[in-house]
Amino acid sequence: MCGIIGYTGDAEATPILIAGLRALEYRGYDSAGIALAGGGRLRAIKSVGRIDALAEKAAGADAAGTCGIGHTRWATHGCPTEDNCHPHLSYGGRFAVVHNGIIENCDALRKLCESAGVTPRGDTDSELIAHLLELEYDGDPVAALRRVAARLRGSYALGVLCADFPREIYAAKMRSPLIIGLGDGAACLSSDGGAMPECVNRLAVLADGQEARLTPGGAEVYERGRPVAGEFVRCQSSRVAAGLSGYPHYMLKEMCEQPEAIARTVADECKSSRPALPRAGVTLIGCGSSYHAALACAPLVERVTGCRAEVRLASEYICSERVREHGRHCVLLSQSGETADTIAAAEEAERRGCRTLAIVNVHASTLTRVCDSFLCTRAGPEISVATTKGFTTQVGALARLAADSDPAFARELKSLPFAAEEALAAAEKTAEYAGRFARAKCAFFVGRKTDYGAALEGALKLKEITYVPALGIAAGELKHGSISLIEKGTPVVMICTDPALEDKAVLSAASVRSRGAFVLAVTTCARVAEACDGAVMLPRVHPLLSAAVSVIPLQRLAYETALLLGRDIDKPRNLAKSVTVE
Ligand code: F6R
Repeated sequence: MCGIIGYTGDAEATPILIAGLRALEYRGYDSAGIALAGGGRLRAIKSVGRIDALAEKAAGADAAGTCGIGHTRWATHGCPTEDNCHPHLSYGGRFAVVHNGIIENCDALRKLCESAGVTPRGDTDSELIAHLLELEYDGDPVAALRRVAARLRGSYALGVLCADFPREIYAAKMRSPLIIGLGDGAACLSSDGGAMPECVNRLAVLADGQEARLTPGGAEVYERGRPVAGEFVRCQSSRVAAGLSGYPHYMLKEMCEQPEAIARTVADECKSSRPALPRAGVTLIGCGSSYHAALACAPLVERVTGCRAEVRLASEYICSERVREHGRHCVLLSQSGETADTIAAAEEAERRGCRTLAIVNVHASTLTRVCDSFLCTRAGPEISVATTKGFTTQVGALARLAADSDPAFARELKSLPFAAEEALAAAEKTAEYAGRFARAKCAFFVGRKTDYGAALEGALKLKEITYVPALGIAAGELKHGSISLIEKGTPVVMICTDPALEDKAVLSAASVRSRGAFVLAVTTCARVAEACDGAVMLPRVHPLLSAAVSVIPLQRLAYETALLLGRDIDKPRNLAKSVTVE
């Protein structure tokens, strides 16, 4: 959602903070700011819009100093204005605060501030934390932070400056990720290990309920007021701003990385270190694209376990009736491993007596700590807000688990990266059809079984980066109502990768074409292609694996349509990369 960065050391902080914010910009991009300590006071520089606007403003301001914090925001409380933008200064200017997360008892805290004579400037829950720190302060910023943190309900990752200690940064965390990085003569803070400044060579993940004091000489970690040893591990700089490598957009770059990412994910590593899929009921849980990957993989899981696989939206699972689920296994899919609904679903699954397995792309993410076991996809960092390789590697990871107990399937799996490569080449043809989708009032994506998960994902990709309304529909459901939306020229993508479902796909295509639809087949079946107005032919793979292949032209179709419409492809409006609030 939002991103936090902090630096204290010998170098000028502003360029380091701005570079960190650029690496975090994919997490939130409606406003950004930095605060610097020095000269007995704190200075904040803020800007609505992108990091470029902030960098320009900082270039013309007093931005000198070797200790500072920064934030890039995705609005939850209050619109993206400078008053609502972080860092927030306390009423007396002694504290500056950056905050990720949501404070649930903010109404009560606002009243508390007001009763102490402090009127907040903006509408955010985060600003209140700055005022409370100044109200609680008695000369020890860590103690003040501990007392304030104890009053907060909800989730927070906090970075704090105090004017009285201009070389120090303070941190606290609850249910929102925060990482400390150390380098020679520098200490850093970030909500995302991938955004750490290049000087960092050791990392430690702050745990819920801990506070930390960062100085150029190192970091002290506290738990209930007592110092504890931070668990630092050596690392190489993992700055995600690896660049576009010549691609015009991260989305295109990441689409093209899919064959390799799938190959890494399905590679035959040590089977004994992998959790096994149980021969018991499995519930697959996720949000957005991860939910679609779960839907696409349910038939695969059913084949392996021999039991019905249930697929649930994380946000629905957490508010469903608490029936006995003892003995069930829950697989939680999340690219980021930080999605609040998915984390809450993992906790709820545990309360219901289920075993939990996380499939994530970020090794040190919260979900890996919440679940009984975890498995990592090997997609590499994903910067584009619209996920691509996140989805296909999730399919790869579940297929890898399935292949452990099925040698014939394991052989099929080896061909998946090559099929993805062919699909990438075939996907270029979608540029021919993008104009129809750019002009559409509504587009349809239709499929059955595994192809249904891909259809939902294709519709989501189109919606999120082009803003063209799109529906993903189970092909059999069309005739039960949605077909009323079809009119002359309505674009329909018919996905069919299973020869056993070919006849049904031909019938579905005929039923919408007879009402004027333009039908684009994304298929392995020549007969389906012939029954449609246009076709992207896919290489054959095992039908249970096909979502990792059929989705590739759908991603490309959305990309080409967004290009035609001149959309901001990597940073679509209103979205954020990982949704760390419920
Ligand atoms: C869509 C997209 C989102 C995410 C969803 C879950 O392109 O990226 O729908 O899939 O927010 O995120 P993760 O997988 O990080 O839990």
